[in-house]
This record gives sequence, structure tokens and C-alpha cells, in this order.
Amino acid sequence: MIINWTKIAEEIYTQLKNDIKSFKSKPSLWAILVWNNPSSLRYIKQKEKWAKEIWINFILKKIPENIKERDLYNIVKEFNDDININWYIVQLPLPPHIDSQKIINNIHPKKDVDGFHPNNMWKVLLWDKNWFVPCTPAGIIEILEKEEIKVEWKKVCVIWRSNIVWKPMVSLLINMWATVIACNSKTKDLDKHTSSADVVIVAAWNPWLLKVNMIKYWAVIIDVWFTVIDDIIYWDADTKLIDLVWNKITPVPGWVWSLTVAMLMKNTIKAYKIQNK
Ligand code: GUN
Repeated sequence: MIINWTKIAEEIYTQLKNDIKSFKSKPSLWAILVWNNPSSLRYIKQKEKWAKEIWINFILKKIPENIKERDLYNIVKEFNDDININWYIVQLPLPPHIDSQKIINNIHPKKDVDGFHPNNMWKVLLWDKNWFVPCTPAGIIEILEKEEIKVEWKKVCVIWRSNIVWKPMVSLLINMWATVIACNSKTKDLDKHTSSADVVIVAAWNPWLLKVNMIKYWAVIIDVWFTVIDDIIYWDADTKLIDLVWNKITPVPGWVWSLTVAMLMKNTIKAYKIQNK
């Protein structure tokens, strides 16, 4: 069975459109794009499209890829100081010569609707759902709730180590009483862990990492990321998994685009409400 991500995203957007109707002004969301890799460009296009659709002003600032770390840091500082910029994101990944965490650490936590700043991550660890939960993990929680997939008493395997999905995802799941198996690229015998899990969340950025013989046949598979090679999209889960109707699986890229983006819009609306209380 394939999880109907479109329906889940549509419900979120309907709710957000209703919320925005009562706002006195149009919220604005800024995005800084440095690395024009195909995945980031696709993400940004979707963010732009959905922001417009629900009446959020989306302003994209494109920066040359060869920018020095210090200069990007200064742009982030300008964004923090600019009273006309209430909320913004820095699209990841950044080019390899830039330390992403250094840049994220300098985004003002109140403007950080991605929820990546350490202060905001800390709130996630402590289960403060009223703040900005990073968008992809927030989207996954939304799926689990809407599909009534309970994680208490269950084993959830989360693959692979990253600051923007894996760490907040593990934090959210432990708060939800799941038994979490947090795998990384140095985990031995990955298949032993995946095949004992009731839910497998794969965000590895590694084409077809998760194979049919690595899972329980009734497991729920949540496939988060994809890689684009020569214009072809490769999921982290082998496409053969989708043909097998045993389990619930989220198809990417549709899912990633729709739910991560929907949760970014939700965080922006949340931020507007906090500011205009
Ligand atoms: N790259 C992949 N996912 C995300 C996300 O949620 N936010 C940002 N800023 N970059 C990303």
C-alpha cells in the first residue's frame, strides 16, 4: 500500500489557507540558495510554488557558488539584522568548502523556520512541539499520525546520520516512546537492524540502499531522500519495494517535496502567529 502523501499535504494546505485568511498582512519567507545542485533547485521551486499558492510572499536570494564562508556568514548576519526579514531559510546542502553548521549556528533562532539552529534543535529534543520542528521529521510525524501508525512498543530504524533529519527524527521518536535503532554509515550489518524494525525511515542520500531482502514484509517504509544522476531520480529505497504491496511506503520525490515543503509553510504560519499574538 502506498501512503497517500498528496491527500495529507492537501489537508495541511487547506488548513494553512484558512489560517492565512484571517491574517492582517501577507507573511514573507526568504530563502538563500548557494548551491545549484538539481535536488536543491527542485526543492526551491516547490517552496516557491506552494508559498505563492497559499499567499506567502517567497523571496529567493541566489548567491554565487564560489562565495567565501565569511561572506556568506555576513549575508546571514545582514538577514538577522534586517527588520523587514522576519523568517528565512538557507537551502542545504551548501557547497563543500563551506561549513554548513557554522552558517546555521548564526541564523537567528526566531527567524529560523527550518528549525535547524541549535536552540531550536534543543527544543525538539525536549519535545516542545509549539516551536519550529525541522520540516522533514515534522512531515514524517504528520504521516505517522494521519496514517495511525503508532510507534510505542515498536522498533523504528532510522538511517543515516544527519543533523537535519536523523538527529531530530531520533529525538522526536524517543519522545514518542518508540524503541529507536539509529543507524549510520558505520553501522555493521545494516540489514540485521532493518529486518528487525517495524518502521524503517531511510534518509541516506544513497541510491537504492534499502533492498527488498532487508525488511520485514509488513514493515512501514518511509523513504525520505533521493539522488538525481543524469536527470534520473534514484530513491534511497529500491523501486522494487514499491511494486510489493505488502507494506506502507511513501513514494519520493512526491512525498519529500510535498510534506517537507508543507511543514515549512506550517512553521512560517506558526512564526507569524507567534509574532502577531
Ligand atoms: N535540504 C534538504 N532538506 C532541507 C530542508 O528541510 N531545509 C533546507 N533549508 N534545506 C534542505
